[in-house]
Amino acid sequence: MGVFSSLPWFMFWTGKTMYFVILTVVTVASLLLLLLWNGKRGNQWMSELKRWRSLKVLSKEKQRKTLEEDTCNAQKIQENLLLETLYYHQDTEYGLQHSFRDFQDVHSFQKNHPLTHYNDYKDYLQRTSQGEENLLVPGRPSVLVASPGTSGNRSMVPMSNKSRSERVLQGRAVYLETVYNTFPGALEKVFKFTFPPPINQSDVGIPIVPYPSALSVKCMQDVYSPPVPVHPSMSHHEVLYTQLLFSLKDPDLSVIEANFFWLLHYVFSILEDCWESLVTDIQKGRLSSELKVPLETRKQIEDMLVPDASRAAELRAQFQKGFHGIVKRMWPRLQVVVALESGGSDLDRQTLQDRLCHGIPLYSPTYCAAEGLYGVNLWPKDDVSQYVLCPRSVFFEFIPVDTSEQEQPATLCLQDVSADKVYELVITNRDGFYRYRLGDVVQVTSFYNQSPVVKFLYRKSQTLNVRGERISECGFYKALRCTVALWPGATLLNYCCLESGVLGQLSGGSDPHYEVFVALKGVRNLSEEQRYKLDQTLQEHFPIYKSFRFKGSIGPVRLHLTSPKSFLRLLNLASDLSALPLDCIQPPRTLKHREMAEMIWKQVLS
Ligand SMILES: *[C@@H]1O[C@H](CO)[C@@H](O)[C@H](O)[C@H]1NC(C)=O
Ligand SMILES: *[C@@H]1O[C@H](CO)[C@@H](O)[C@H](O)[C@H]1NC(C)=O
Ligand SMILES: *[C@@H]1O[C@H](CO)[C@@H](O)[C@H](O)[C@H]1NC(C)=O
Ligand SMILES: *[C@@H]1O[C@H](CO)[C@@H](O)[C@H](O)[C@H]1NC(C)=O
Repeated sequence: MGVFSSLPWFMFWTGKTMYFVILTVVTVASLLLLLLWNGKRGNQWMSELKRWRSLKVLSKEKQRKTLEEDTCNAQKIQENLLLETLYYHQDTEYGLQHSFRDFQDVHSFQKNHPLTHYNDYKDYLQRTSQGEENLLVPGRPSVLVASPGTSGNRSMVPMSNKSRSERVLQGRAVYLETVYNTFPGALEKVFKFTFPPPINQSDVGIPIVPYPSALSVKCMQDVYSPPVPVHPSMSHHEVLYTQLLFSLKDPDLSVIEANFFWLLHYVFSILEDCWESLVTDIQKGRLSSELKVPLETRKQIEDMLVPDASRAAELRAQFQKGFHGIVKRMWPRLQVVVALESGGSDLDRQTLQDRLCHGIPLYSPTYCAAEGLYGVNLWPKDDVSQYVLCPRSVFFEFIPVDTSEQEQPATLCLQDVSADKVYELVITNRDGFYRYRLGDVVQVTSFYNQSPVVKFLYRKSQTLNVRGERISECGFYKALRCTVALWPGATLLNYCCLESGVLGQLSGGSDPHYEVFVALKGVRNLSEEQRYKLDQTLQEHFPIYKSFRFKGSIGPVRLHLTSPKSFLRLLNLASDLSALPLDCIQPPRTLKHREMAEMIWKQVLS
């Protein structure tokens, strides 16, 4: 070995090999030059190269293998993560105030640090955004991640560059690897429906990025099909119409993606309404003149289009056959539809699965929020999303659900939870949130090595509770579905509900009760008797509700019919109120914000 390695490298090469190498290098170099020189095509080629490189980088990371090892050693990794986090933050203002130096182990931390809520951090965050340093994290956070709060206001959490890239590796990279391994060739053509995130900064220039868009990084961008030009003056409808046009013209898409399932539902409703215009646009290689797009942007868009009569004819034939399973027929190579599951997203997911996306797996790859990545879903073909908790991502604690109404209940660690039990999640992340009650309730379904596998159940913030009856988001949804099944011919398209108190005088001065708003397909109107079925079902499912109804301290449910469009207006309002892009909004199911309640109230049809 010693002898050979001391020889210069070229001594190994015979003259013939050298000749071949030089020839190859020269050929490749001239091809490269030719392609680059060739303008537009060169660009396409470069972006293909970038895509290929990104996939290579992402799949080389072998994050899946790391996860495998981590889950075998979950308890130890969790303990180390917590102690490292406390050590790293001990000289921040928060760390000094809470004597982080005194915490020697998990137990002393749990004993001496209370469970927290968002409000406990509000003041620190306010001061951070105004430029004060060393409050929750050492120095300044790299970005502030904004997401809609439950009451309409937006909440912001700090994030460092380091945890941002860790999240991407542990979340996105595992997702890509999983898709890559489950659906060979699926990452060839990934199309994402999305709105460009606004560029905004805090008073002192800390970038504010919306969740979940904050989780995408440059190398991820290369995996998607090239972005479709947009102009800030374009409406949501116009942006999505244009993106649909580009997605439709490509018969070879292998994955379609959006932040949340509801957005895909919206995209396909535009398809159903506008397919004739879209097909004509593809045929003529233009963008419909009905869209109010500024000239410059229109030109950019149309430069990317060429007339394609045969694709147009193909699509027309498919649309004329109807929309059941249309996604598979439009894109025969499509292997999987990807979006994040969020609270209250069951209905959108189910609606897609039953009709438009019939026959294609719907995959929610990660369980995450602005505050961190919690789990990854390793089973893209399963109907129910389940996530392996990532031990290296945040420190987890679990509150058994029957004590979750207490202010400071005892918590369990990851190794102490049991399968089939239901818990409220508590996390400590690396970005300054400690023993933080997320408000998510999950069910542990099994274990992956030592790590719990969880199913998301509901958001505590969406619980209905006018007299202490506490009906959860998923409990209410189940009761509503049972009721809709009793209305002949009716299909549920959308819904939301609220406690009468939110509407104040508008809902009449009677006993507190629920106001429920539904959009249905297949029925024109409902009789009083049919509407009352919802109240009966709630009584059957929830004994406490029944007893309050019996005593008369809760009034009967009032059910209203409204149109599917009114729910879109609701999301638009939520987007305006929180100053976040529409596709960063998760549909509220229980409205707590007066303005939103009034908006839906005004759109009641009967
Ligand atoms: C975070 O990364 C961005 C570039 O990705 C860089 O501009 C910025 O300075 C970094 N911030 C910190 C605090 O390191
Ligand atoms: C939302 O924010 C506004 C202004 O910052 C504030 O006045 C209001 O109290 C907030 N509402 C809630 C429910 O936090
Ligand atoms: C930036 O944020 C401020 C307040 O945080 C808001 O008033 C403004 O509209 C935002 N700008 C954009 C472009 O979103
Ligand atoms: C729908 O039914 C309700 C009774 O449940 C009735 O009061 C209302 O007038 C009906 N509306 C229409 C448009 O038929």
